[in-house]
Amino acid sequence: MRIKYTISLIFIVAIVIIEKENNIISKVSDKLTPKQTPQTPLQYNVSAHLVLKHNGSYSAFSKLDLAFVHPRRRLENFTEQVEGRGGGKKHILLMATTRTGSSFVGEFFNQQGANMFYLFEPLWHVEKMLTLETGGTNATASAKAYRDVLRQLFLCDFALMETFINPLPVDHVTAALFRRESSSSLCVEPVCTPFVKKVFERYHCKARRCGPLNLTLASESCRQKEHRAIKTVRVRQLETLRPLTEDPRLDVRFIQLVRDPRAVLASRMVAFSAKYKNWKKWAVDGEVPIDDDEVKKLKGNCDNIRVSAEAGLKQPYWLRGRYMLVRYEDIARFPMQKAAEMYTFAGIPFTPQVKEWILKNTQASKEASGVYSTQKNSSEQVEKWRFSIPFKLAQVVQKVCGPTMRLFGYKFVNDETTLTDKTISLLEEKMFNFY
Ligand SMILES: *[C@@H]1O[C@H](CO)[C@@H](O)[C@H](O)[C@H]1NC(C)=O
Ligand SMILES: *[C@@H]1O[C@H](CO)[C@@H](O)[C@H](O)[C@H]1NC(C)=O
Ligand SMILES: *[C@@H]1O[C@H](CO)[C@@H](O)[C@H](O)[C@H]1NC(C)=O
Ligand SMILES: *[C@@H]1O[C@H](CO)[C@@H](O)[C@H](O)[C@H]1NC(C)=O
Ligand SMILES: *[C@@H]1O[C@H](CO)[C@@H](O)[C@H](O)[C@H]1NC(C)=O
Ligand SMILES: *[C@@H]1O[C@H](CO)[C@@H](O)[C@H](O)[C@H]1NC(C)=O
Repeated sequence: MRIKYTISLIFIVAIVIIEKENNIISKVSDKLTPKQTPQTPLQYNVSAHLVLKHNGSYSAFSKLDLAFVHPRRRLENFTEQVEGRGGGKKHILLMATTRTGSSFVGEFFNQQGANMFYLFEPLWHVEKMLTLETGGTNATASAKAYRDVLRQLFLCDFALMETFINPLPVDHVTAALFRRESSSSLCVEPVCTPFVKKVFERYHCKARRCGPLNLTLASESCRQKEHRAIKTVRVRQLETLRPLTEDPRLDVRFIQLVRDPRAVLASRMVAFSAKYKNWKKWAVDGEVPIDDDEVKKLKGNCDNIRVSAEAGLKQPYWLRGRYMLVRYEDIARFPMQKAAEMYTFAGIPFTPQVKEWILKNTQASKEASGVYSTQKNSSEQVEKWRFSIPFKLAQVVQKVCGPTMRLFGYKFVNDETTLTDKTISLLEEKMFNFY
C-alpha cells in the first residue's frame, strides 16, 4: 500500500517536472528539430526475486526512468547538435572472451592517464547475480541486462549496476566490487578514500590501501574524464549492443579481440582446470566425443565470435567507423603498432604513459608469472600453446571452429609435427579494418 502510494507520488512529481522540462526544451529546440514522435522507451526487467528483494525500489526507479525518456531524448538531441555526438566523449568497449589477452589489452586503455575512466569486467556482477537468481540460462535476458548496464556505466551511472552487486551496496558504498584494483581510476584520489582497518573487509588497491568504494565518488570521477573504456568477456553477440550505437549520448567504439581458438582452449585447460576436466581427460586417453556438451559449447563460443566479427566486418551503417577487429597474435608481435592503431581508431590521444607501459610489459623475461599475469614476453608466449595441446584436441577445435579460424586467418595443421614446428607460422598475414 505504502509503496504504491510512494510510486504515485513519484509519478505526480515526475509529471510536473516533465511538463516543466518540456516547456524549456521546446523553447530551445523547436528551432533546431521538427516535432518528433516518441521513441520506443528503454525496457528493463530484472527477475521478480530481485525486484522484491530490493523492496520495489528498482521498479519504481525504472518507471521513473521511462517517464523521463522522451524529454531526456529531446534534451540529448539538442546537446548532440551543439556538442557533437556523446558531447565529444569517447566510449570504448573492448569485447573479448576469456584467455584472449583481454586483461593485457585492457591495460592499454587503463594506462592512458588522467583522461580515462576504465572499468575491468563490471558485467561479472551481472552474470553472477543472474546465475544466482535465474540460473543464468536465459541468454536474451542476460544480453539485455549486459546492454543496459553497459549503457549506464558509459554514462557514469552506477545505479543499475548496484542492483547486481552482492551484498547490495549501502548508501552507494561497497567493498565488493570485482577486481577494483584493475581500474586505476578507482584507486587514485579522490575515489580512493582513507583506509580504516576493519577485520572482515578486503578492498585494497594494488599500490595503496583505500577505503570501501564510494560509487558516488566513482561516478563523479567518471563524469570528469574525457573518455571511458570498459573491458568485458561476457557479451556474446555484437548485435545485442546496437542500441548503444543509436544513443546520442554515446559515441561508442567496439574493439573485438580474438585469438586462435586452439590457443584459447590450451590456455583455459590450464587456467580453469576444474571446469575443463573433461578436456584434460580426453587429452590423455580415448576419443573425444564430438557430440559432447563441452564440445558443443566450444562450437557455440566460436560461432558467437564469428557472427559478431562478420557483423562488424560487413560495416553495416550502425557500425560504420565503430568496429575494429584485433587478433591477439598481432598485438603480441607488434604491441606498440597495434596499440597506436587502436588509439587512432578510438579517436583518443596515445599518451607517453601508455607507450611506457607497453615497453615495460612486452619485453619482460621470465620473472613474471601467474596465469593472469599481463607481464610476459609476449612474442614468446604467443606460441607456447603449440606444445601444450595434444594434436587430437587441436583437430577437434579445427573441426568445430573451422569457419571461425578461416575468417581470422588461423592455419590448420594436419599432423603433430607441423603443430610443434615453430618455424611454420600458423598465422596468415591479414588486414581486417576499413574504418
Ligand atoms: C517484469 O517483472 C515482473 C516481476 O517478475 C513481472 O511481473 C512482469 O511481467 C515483467 N514484465 C515484463 C515486461 O517482462
Ligand atoms: C525495505 O523495506 C523495509 C520495510 O519498509 C525497510 O525496513 C528496509 O530498510 C527496506 N530495504 C531497502 C533495501 O530499501
Ligand atoms: C532524437 O533524434 C533522433 C535521430 O535524429 C530521432 O529519431 C528522435 O526521434 C529524436 N528524439 C526526440 C525525442 O526528439
Ligand atoms: C527470456 O528473457 C526474455 C527477455 O527478458 C523474455 O522475453 C523471455 O520470456 C525469457 N524466456 C524464458 C524462457 O524465460
Ligand atoms: C560518498 O561520496 C559522496 C560524494 O562526495 C558523499 O556525499 C557521501 O557522503 C559519501 N558516502 C559515504 C557513505 O561516505
Ligand atoms: C622474447 O621472446 C622472443 C622470442 O622467443 C625473443 O626473441 C626475445 O629475445 C625475448 N625478449 C626478452 C626481453 O626476453
